[in-house]
Amino acid sequence: MIIKEGFARISVPETHNRKGPGTRSAGFYNNEQVINRDLTILVLSKLRPKNYLDGFGATGVRAIRVAAELGIESSISEINPISVRKIEENLAMNNVTASVHKEPFQSVVSKGLYDFIDIDPYGSAVPYLDVALSSVKNGGYLGITATDLSVLTGSVPSKTRRRYGAFIANDAHRHEAGIRLMLADVVRRAASMDRYITPIISFWHGHFYRIIVRVRNGSMKADRSLDLVSTVNFNKMYSNYYEDIEQGPVWKGDLEDSSIITEALALRPGSVSESSVNFASKIIDENASLMFFEMTDAARSMGMSLPRVNDLIEELVKTGFSAYRTHFSTTGIKFSGTWQQFTEAFVSALRKT
Ligand SMILES: C[S@@+](CC[C@H](N)C(=O)[O-])C[C@H]1O[C@@H](n2cnc3c(N)ncnc32)[C@H](O)[C@@H]1O
Repeated sequence: MIIKEGFARISVPETHNRKGPGTRSAGFYNNEQVINRDLTILVLSKLRPKNYLDGFGATGVRAIRVAAELGIESSISEINPISVRKIEENLAMNNVTASVHKEPFQSVVSKGLYDFIDIDPYGSAVPYLDVALSSVKNGGYLGITATDLSVLTGSVPSKTRRRYGAFIANDAHRHEAGIRLMLADVVRRAASMDRYITPIISFWHGHFYRIIVRVRNGSMKADRSLDLVSTVNFNKMYSNYYEDIEQGPVWKGDLEDSSIITEALALRPGSVSESSVNFASKIIDENASLMFFEMTDAARSMGMSLPRVNDLIEELVKTGFSAYRTHFSTTGIKFSGTWQQFTEAFVSALRKT
């Protein structure tokens, strides 16, 4: 069947995935990843790399959109011969050209020089990170999609330890901790190659994490980036309500470059859906604090009910610190003050609610 995404028309299997991570099949297409591709187009409209490699083509939808909607020279690698035929069919249907490599990503990426490399495999991106990080141009970009969220969020601790050398408590903060763990892993791998990364955008949506980072050469800056990789302990950061346990290592630096996202939002390519634009405009304040403050934890620690989120934000702003909603939790707040200020504002907000 033919579906429309952005300005592209894509032939996808009748059985394509409408919900969840989906089952692996030739010409794999997942409707739930439209937001991932939309935000990639949005950010690329600002970054304007010279060329783009869609490392895991499937239907080729990513590269086709990048070529058709932004006019950026694109390449695709894909190992499944049936998917390769789909990609060629889709390129022709959209009247765009891209170099199609019927080879594994690992060999394609190490032969060419790409400004933007997009990694979107089934499951974990870990097996592909080193070759991508060492191959991308100095000053280029890596887009990484991960769907191994149960591992990144610590729901199977032995696997989190094996794959990422980390511990993550599978609690209300797990998605911010999980995406920061993913970033920490990328930072450490880049540093081992005397390279360092700067996050452009990082977000969680349903069953996946998506990050886009800039990669540059520099051993001193690599050292500085490693200084921002360490553990977090909510007992020390917030209050005795939390167990005294070190989580991580996680990336403690910025999750995004909010000025790039704001400029991309101003450019807003017409092919990016309104819901994706709304989502992007909601994630521009995630740098306001290292981790968000969780209202349900504050409520439980004081034996109180929940105030309205907007009432609490109003009270928090009165402290002179910044306070914003976070996309990581509907009851989470990015707040640059202390736990004590948070709980005091919480009590005041509850009086209003
Ligand atoms: C999750 S799908 C990609 C989805 C696609 N990027 C999208 O946005 O719709 C993963 C694809 O990578 C292909 N693949 C798996 N291992 C690969 C490798 N080493 N090199 C290139 N393609 C690979 C699979 O055949 C599959 O089509």
